[in-house]
Amino acid sequence: MSFPYQIKSVDQYKAAYDKSVNDPEGFWGEIASSFYWRKKWDKVLEWDFKKPTIKWFAGGKLNITENCLDRHLNTLGNTPAIIWESNDPEEPNRVLTYRELHAKVVQFANVLKNNGVQKGDRVCIYMGMVPELAIAVLACARIGAIHSVVFGGFSAQSISDRLQDAKAEFVVTCDGGFRGNKEIPLKSVIDDALVQCHFVKRVIVLTRTRTQVSMIEGRDVWWEEEIRKVEAQGNPDCVAEEMDAEDMLFILYTSGSTGKPKGVVHTCGGYMVYTNYSFVNVFQYQPGDVHFCTADIGWITGHSYIVYGPLSAGATSLMFEGIPTWPNAGRFWDIVDKYKVNVLYTAPTAIRSLMGFGLDPVKGHSLDSVKVLGTVGEPINEEAWHWYDEQIGKKKCPIVDTWWQTETGGILISNLAGVTPAKPAHATLPLPGVQPLLVDENGKEVTGNSVSGNLCIKFPWPGMLRTTYGDHERCRVNYFATYENLYFTGDGCLRDENGNYRITGRVDDVLNVSGHRIGTAEVENAINMHAGVVESAVVGYPHDIKGQGIYAFVIYQGTHGDDALARQDITKTVSKIIGAIAKPDKIQFVSGLPKTRSGKIMRRILRKIAEGEIDKLGDTTTLLDPSVVDEIAKGRL
Ligand code: WTA
Repeated sequence: MSFPYQIKSVDQYKAAYDKSVNDPEGFWGEIASSFYWRKKWDKVLEWDFKKPTIKWFAGGKLNITENCLDRHLNTLGNTPAIIWESNDPEEPNRVLTYRELHAKVVQFANVLKNNGVQKGDRVCIYMGMVPELAIAVLACARIGAIHSVVFGGFSAQSISDRLQDAKAEFVVTCDGGFRGNKEIPLKSVIDDALVQCHFVKRVIVLTRTRTQVSMIEGRDVWWEEEIRKVEAQGNPDCVAEEMDAEDMLFILYTSGSTGKPKGVVHTCGGYMVYTNYSFVNVFQYQPGDVHFCTADIGWITGHSYIVYGPLSAGATSLMFEGIPTWPNAGRFWDIVDKYKVNVLYTAPTAIRSLMGFGLDPVKGHSLDSVKVLGTVGEPINEEAWHWYDEQIGKKKCPIVDTWWQTETGGILISNLAGVTPAKPAHATLPLPGVQPLLVDENGKEVTGNSVSGNLCIKFPWPGMLRTTYGDHERCRVNYFATYENLYFTGDGCLRDENGNYRITGRVDDVLNVSGHRIGTAEVENAINMHAGVVESAVVGYPHDIKGQGIYAFVIYQGTHGDDALARQDITKTVSKIIGAIAKPDKIQFVSGLPKTRSGKIMRRILRKIAEGEIDKLGDTTTLLDPSVVDEIAKGRL
């Protein structure tokens, strides 16, 4: 494949950027022409951020899997599309060429059809990182079903909430999953989730761990048996469903500052164009490159930069089932050398955790296949940036610090590897087509350089969210109502003297723990489910490895008087309600919470206490009971 839209120099970047601002429709229309459309679009862009309505390539007809698979068959049929590395280094790897992946997607698409899945139906996918996860995702896209992948670490309650919100009648899962030395009983978690979801008609279960599972008659079927049925039918083709550019491709749930996670909706045409464009440009993809994105497909990073971006570009995407520290902290480096990885894309939290093991695990690895390093998901501190640069990149590999969100579909602010300059801990410049803007608390634009503000985007890009599933008003209120005519990201940001952006973190009540988004309200609701808890307040605090840790202040009226046990119980409750990723790192029992006279918890004060900045609490005189602050500060953990 060739990519006429790949930017090769700073001048080309500037020219592309200018064109994208002056003539966005011409700019994106030209890029989109490189894809395979059944029918060309009538209009490149229609938009109104007030409503909001955003339509890209309206009237265009396509199927994203024809762009990720079929169009590569003649030229890249025997090229590996997915290389899979097991959790267990001793287990043989698996390689699926584009031809093989295509055949498997077609086969599973027929399984879905045989099981009654139709265009527009929602399919919840709850699996470990096995190739069949990517196959299931693509098979949904092939028949026009809307996939909603739920990360394998979420609890039964979280799955059940998502199933109900998406009204998903179909589930694809595994018997279990492997992660490090843990085995996750995925099917049994699904069984618990489905107790509250009788509308689910079918559960398709892939064998992975051979753990015992209960199969419910009439509801549950085995993946392998369903495949055999399709084989018995003579492996018929499954012609890709013709989709409108604005038909839904997937729903992905993510945390916000209030309420339950919301289902971010992405559509077929714009998402395809944007993930491909950003993949090819940010990582400077060259044919033959092995791309290793260490995220899980349960998150947006896996959707965009394991599945859709790389495959639409004909790249080889490496999928890893396990974790960086198992069986030891050299696992990533083993994998890099084993497959001659060219691009490594991971999270700052992984880098910090690996740094903690010193240089021994890195020694003995050549790492000389690596050309580009990337980070995503949270701000990277300079120390981690330099370690990554020196020890992994040997100071020869550009690092792309990619800022984006579930809602943005793809990378919005990043340097382009080796093309535009990097700056430690800075995402640097917007991609062509992306128009960032900083505003102050009053919504007034902050102009010029060496300034800070809340990060907004003032013009649509093809990969942006279109709605939140089942509740368009929530989408409007969350993203488009804070500042008029702007998409508000929820992030705070600095712009340096040269116009480089540095994202400093969330300015709303969303935490970023090890690169995972978690709403404080969600954690509080989970803690409050515990019978002994009267009330709680949750804030983030700086954590050396996780970036942010979860600090919970809890008013507790349990009777057994054993604090350690009470902490354990509360932690367990949060794991049950949300999942282990949301477990508080610290739980402090308090007799009251700092509240204003109108009953609002003053989180600012709690945040300062959690951060250890007790001398900077600011004005506490407006509190109902200022003395509670002293008590909390004294009891700080
Ligand atoms: C944060 C992950 C600093 C940010 C792709 C954003 C970052 C949230 C960066 C989205 C980065 C992501 N530098 N912060 N390079 N990338 N973030 O939806 O706060 O899981 O709003 O998407 O992660 O998290 P999400």
